[in-house]
Formats: sequence, structure tokens, C-alpha cells
Amino acid sequence: MSAPHVPARTLTTAHLSAAHPFFAGRTLDRAGPLIGREITTGRAFAVDPWRLYADGHITNPGTVIAGQVGLGKSALVKTYLARHAILGRRSVVIDPKGEYGALAAWFGSAAICLRPGGQTRLNPLDPTIGADARVALVAAVVELGLERRLDPLERAACERACVVVSTGSTGTLTAVYDALRRPAPDDAHRLGTTPDRLAEETRACALAVRRLCEGELAGMLDTPTTPDVRLDAPVVVFDLQALRNSAALGIVIACIAAWHEGRHPRDHAGRIFVVDEAWALIATSATAEFFQRSWKLARASGVQNILIVHRVSDLRAAGDAGSRVAQIAEGLVSESEICVLLRQAHADLPTTRERLGLTDAESEIVTRLPRGCALWRIGDRSFVVAHVVSDAERALIDTDHAMRAARP
Ligand SMILES: Nc1ncnc2c1ncn2[C@@H]1O[C@H](COP(=O)(O)OP(=O)(O)OP(=O)(O)O)[C@@H](O)[C@H]1O
Ligand SMILES: [Mg+2]
Repeated sequence: MSAPHVPARTLTTAHLSAAHPFFAGRTLDRAGPLIGREITTGRAFAVDPWRLYADGHITNPGTVIAGQVGLGKSALVKTYLARHAILGRRSVVIDPKGEYGALAAWFGSAAICLRPGGQTRLNPLDPTIGADARVALVAAVVELGLERRLDPLERAACERACVVVSTGSTGTLTAVYDALRRPAPDDAHRLGTTPDRLAEETRACALAVRRLCEGELAGMLDTPTTPDVRLDAPVVVFDLQALRNSAALGIVIACIAAWHEGRHPRDHAGRIFVVDEAWALIATSATAEFFQRSWKLARASGVQNILIVHRVSDLRAAGDAGSRVAQIAEGLVSESEICVLLRQAHADLPTTRERLGLTDAESEIVTRLPRGCALWRIGDRSFVVAHVVSDAERALIDTDHAMRAARP
């Protein structure tokens, strides 16, 4: 059964609670979708980051959700998105495990599956993505392929290739590959070299792009965006399970983020962008830097970015301590003013505590939380909340069926 899509509206808390018993807003004195009940007081706990921002409780809507395996991180997000969608807010989910399809179906759409050789394509040079973001994306694609930073000549050649292929028509990675293999004489001269020498010196870049056009990763990013990639459903799910262990996962996530940003530069209705299993987006400095940029734009564009990880240290472990990637990952955590901690292992506690500045009492609590319970840090306030799931929502959150099916 599909849940009805109701346009956004504003109600008082009293009206909202009466009309929709599932939504209440006494916590922080604001209406918003219900999360659950505060353990200590039994009061309803609701979160609307846009209201929290407007009221000065937070200065950044960035959100990190961390907790051990199977404790209910994804379940929390699925109900959060469903309840926001019923109130008219839209969301985009990066789903590396292929488990949000039921949520998309609830709101009448199907998950968009990106896989090598598939039918669905997302073009990193799509005209809806701004020119600067297109160049940054293509540079990230190439750096990911090369597993190193571009040197200045390579960067300039990639930049030129993007501009040339996007002039007068929709550029594609296939056209960038051709432009890198056969640079225009003018471009080569401007860079102080000849076309043949430039092609030779940037051959590795061309081959990195080729991997996505003709190699084993072809068939996802190499032609214009297909019409099935649309953002108008209440919940848009990108199913990336085919890429779970692929080097291309980070770059596909970056492309989706750029495309989402390009389509909705300023969305006054508020939009939610979720990356489940978020380790992938900071796998390399190229994708980490790309995401850092998009994180910084979030406030201006009215987007709540949500990263889901097992441990706060997952983000730190993305690079050697002190490296550029590790610094970016730490920045993403420290700029997230909403932190939701499900149970943490004792071994992870020192890092979590240090990164988030937990008090003794908070540190004690986060090692003992049962499934579905979390410590919510919102700005400088904290709440221990039991997530409430309705009967209708259970079908959305069940990820245990395989375990139950195998029970003797
Ligand atoms: N609040 C809750 N009430 C009842 N059941 C829950 C609740 N939260 C989670 N569950 C159940 O727990 C199981 C695991 O939840 P979920 O998949 O959300 O965990 P997770 O933390 O995302 O795990 P992973 O780290 O493997 O991604 C699911 O089958 C779900 O139905
Ligand atoms: Mg999960």
C-alpha cells in the first residue's frame, strides 16, 4: 500500500498531535515528525532541523548517526524520512545495501539502480550540474582512477576537456576521454606544449576516464542522464548494491550529490540527503573534498545531510591520521550539530568521546543502549530517546528476515 503524499503545511503542535497522533512536538517546543519517547521523562521527542536552525538551537543541520551493527540506524532513518515525506519534505537516499526500496515504493516510486552495464545512467557532465562542480567531479573521477592527486598540467587538461565537450552540447565522459586523447592545438599551445606531447603527458588521465566508458565500470556515468533518474518523488532511492565493493562507489555518490545540488540549488521546502554506509564517500581525498564542499553548501541550500556510520572513528579511519582525508572526515563530524549515537563498543568509546566531547554520563549511557535507543546530541543539548515504530512502518524497517528465515 502506498502512503499518501500530502503537501507541506504548518499546524500548531496541538492540532498536529490531534490530527496525526504519530507526530508531536513538545521536545524543544516545536512541531515536527516524531522520533520516539525520551527515556527519562516519557515525553514525545520530535525533530525538525529547519525549525531547530530557525530557533538557534543549531547552526548547521549536518547529521551523523553512529552505532554498532544491527542496532537500528537504518530503521531510524527510514521512519524519519517517511514521516518527513508525509509532511511534504523530500529526500534522496544513497543505499549501498539495497534496503530502501520498500520506502521508495511506499511513496509510489521505484529505487533507481545504478550498476555497470545497466540501463540507468547519471551524467557527471549533466547541464544541471554547475560548470565548476562538473570540473570538480571530473577531476575527482580521474583522481579516483589514478589513486593519486592530479599534477597541475593534468588538472588544466581535464578542466579544458570539460569546457570543450560542454560547449554547445551536453558533455559526456566519453567525449572527455576523446578530448584528452586528442587535445585541440590551441589548448596545447596555451599550456606551452604540443597536442601530441599533451596527449602523452595526460594519457593516464584519459585511461582513468576510459575505465568508466569502455572498461569494467562502463554503463553508469558515460552517456546523458536517462529519464528514469528523477528527483520529483517524495523519497528518491539510489540503489548502489551492485557497487558495494567497487572503487566506483565513492565517485557515483559524488555524482549523485552534485546532480542533486544542481537540480535544487535552493530548496525552500527543505530536503534531506542521506548516505547510508558513509565510509565510501570519504574513501579518497578526491571524493572527500567533493563531499566537504557539498557539506558546506548544505546550509545555504536548505539541505540536511545525514551520514550513517558504525563508529565515529569510521570517518577518521578513512585516511591515515593527520592526512587530508582524515582532516576532512573530522571536519564533517565536528560540523554536524545533530549527532545520534546508538550503542557504542567500549573499544570505540575514547575516540567517540573525544570527537564529540561527551560528558561522563553520556559516555556511560552510550555503551548500554538497547536496540532502537539512542543518545541525541542537538547543539549543546542531549536526550536519550527510544525510537517508536508503528505497525505500518514495520515492513519498511525489517532487515532481519534472512536471519529469521534461516532459523532451525
Ligand atoms: N526501533 C526499533 N523497533 C523495533 N525493531 C527495530 C527498531 N530498530 C531496528 N529494529 C530492527 O532491527 C533490525 C536491524 O535494524 P537496522 O537494519 O536498522 O540496523 P542497522 O543499525 O542499520 O544495521 P547495519 O549496521 O547492519 O546497517 C531490523 O530488522 C529492524 O526491524
Ligand atoms: Mg543499516
